[in-house]
Amino acid sequence: MLVKFKLNGVDVELNVKPGEYLLDSLRNYGVKSVKKGCDASSCGACTVLVDNHPVLSCSYLTARVEGKEVTTVEAIQEEAAKLSEYFSKEGADQCGFCNSAFALLIHALKHENPHPSDEEIKDYIVGNLCRCTGYQSQFKAIKAYLGGK
Ligand code: FES
Ligand code: FES
Repeated sequence: MLVKFKLNGVDVELNVKPGEYLLDSLRNYGVKSVKKGCDASSCGACTVLVDNHPVLSCSYLTARVEGKEVTTVEAIQEEAAKLSEYFSKEGADQCGFCNSAFALLIHALKHENPHPSDEEIKDYIVGNLCRCTGYQSQFKAIKAYLGGK
């Protein structure tokens, strides 16, 4: 089946199987920033934005993005690089497997809630598991980034 949508601002048409998930469609299309961690809706590594809302692409049917806008980290490179500087400053940058999803989540959070409380930040990023850090350094980095410090 043919699915038409916008990917990072560009019109695309993908020929996909009816039960295909967005994670596989995007990776087959060459978007390798979208990571396959658990492939079971548990780790958050496959997060992308659909019409600016975070979704787990490993459990989101590609057919559902018909006519919508899909955003991956490629579209927010500058913002991701800036966030990465804050991660480095706090020692939160390790293997980087979870970083694309963090950048997309923070991008969406900034638009949804520009001045989040600590609890709201934690709630927003809770689904993105990191195998390397203890979350404290990432939390501090995100907080400083959002506060522009
Ligand atoms: S790969 Fe989708 S949640 Fe883990
Ligand atoms: S830095 Fe390795 S998974 Fe998060």
